[in-house]
Amino acid sequence: MKNFSVAIDGPAGAGKSTIAKIIAEKLNIIYIDTGAMYRAFTLKLVKNNIDFNDIKTIKNTLRDTTIDFKNNHIFLDGIIVDEEIRTNEISSKVSLVAKIKEVREKLVEIQRDIAKNKSIIMDGRDIGTSVLPNAEFKFFITASVEERASRRYKELIDKGISIDFDKLKNDIIKRDRIDSTRSIAPLKKSEDAIEVDTTNKNINEVIELILDKMKMEG
Ligand code: C5P
Repeated sequence: MKNFSVAIDGPAGAGKSTIAKIIAEKLNIIYIDTGAMYRAFTLKLVKNNIDFNDIKTIKNTLRDTTIDFKNNHIFLDGIIVDEEIRTNEISSKVSLVAKIKEVREKLVEIQRDIAKNKSIIMDGRDIGTSVLPNAEFKFFITASVEERASRRYKELIDKGISIDFDKLKNDIIKRDRIDSTRSIAPLKKSEDAIEVDTTNKNINEVIELILDKMKMEG
């Protein structure tokens, strides 16, 4: 069968990565979490105390940085950073780093390179609009902000992490605002993407719906 790409975009906490991971397993294709890449680079800047306005140092740092995926782990300069990139600190700073032109250029280049000559599913904010505009399948996954915050809250509580619900919700709203108003490749539904509102749907219903649409389109 010919190689194909699936683009999954949408706001923070809509369940994109959970959905993309399951679909990748079902279809036996590669899954790329582009948000993890922006988080990994943010982690590097934070660890090295680099100011997000210091473009010269950021450019040099980009040159010295490798970010890649192996066996569903994300590697920053050869080291697994799966856990470190998920802290509140990184979540609250990543959108400020993701709006920097030089950062996007480098990470998009890596993303397109990974997508070359294979079937993949990639999730993010600008996959359908910018990274893979020719993707065979495009989905825009949404849910009400209340629902997205509740899901994330439950996830954290289940992990034994306590957090204030309103703060969590406000952080999500803030991140979406920065992501959708930035000048380069903002969070936006691609015109040819199918929108899936997951507010009152469970994960299996969403997966079924997406696989069904892919059959119809393919
Ligand atoms: O998907 P996740 O919530 O982990 O993404 C973290 C952040 O990375 C987003 O809020 C956004 O600022 C940035 N991002 C992006 N473009 C992508 C994926 C993520 O700007 N394709």
